[in-house]
Amino acid sequence: MKPMLIAGNWKMNTTAEEATTLAQQIVSGIANVSLKSKVLVCPPFTNISTVSQIVNGSRVMLGSQNCHFEPKGAFTGEISLPMLKSLACTHVIIGHSERRAYFHESDELINKKAHAILGAGLQPIICIGETLEQRQSNKTFDVLDFQLTHCLKGIEPAFTQSVIIAYEPVWAIGTGIAAVPEQIDEAHNFIREKIVSILGNDAKQVPILYGGSLTNQNADSVFAIENVNGGLIGGASLKAELFLEIIQSSEKIA
Ligand code: PGA
Repeated sequence: MKPMLIAGNWKMNTTAEEATTLAQQIVSGIANVSLKSKVLVCPPFTNISTVSQIVNGSRVMLGSQNCHFEPKGAFTGEISLPMLKSLACTHVIIGHSERRAYFHESDELINKKAHAILGAGLQPIICIGETLEQRQSNKTFDVLDFQLTHCLKGIEPAFTQSVIIAYEPVWAIGTGIAAVPEQIDEAHNFIREKIVSILGNDAKQVPILYGGSLTNQNADSVFAIENVNGGLIGGASLKAELFLEIIQSSEKIA
């Protein structure tokens, strides 16, 4: 028995119409089932308002895929935490490897965002993970260590209960090749030890999600791993029936 969080990262997918259908299907898919797991969807910014109305009053929580660390101002094209909060967002994904790779986001910037998110009363989902090259040159744990040390820098113990970590090996994202249970197990154990050393004993309760080609096919075996507390799901979160099956898998553990 462990608390589980199933989070859908829709990335740059869904028109307003598609987002409406997908959100409605997820809400109705869990409406009449008893559920211990928590469920979260993170649509693109343009659909947050629409999805917010659909999930309102349901057990589906709402998150965004990014934010700016300043509350307002001259930052063309950016989205602030008060804006997200006003639409009932409770979570923000930060440090996703796609943002690190394509938009050059550094651990320092991710740390700034983490502080802003926690200060605004929301929960950051801080993504970390090694590239294939880093894994092949045996640098996986060094990379995780570095990312955690910098992303969590200066976070007050009082905020520990709001932090969420997602381990997403870059080589497993969108490739159809998920990490195998042994790889996930050792990475999550390492992350658990590291966050306890940074944030203190309360970090034993911090959810560590796995992400990277997580599907209805491998969810059972991934969720059974001791320090896995849910999943951050890309591709398979765009089809309601797959996402709902993954939620069902997590229920066997929760
Ligand atoms: P994927 O993406 O499930 O499509 O591999 C996961 C993620 O990037 O969060």
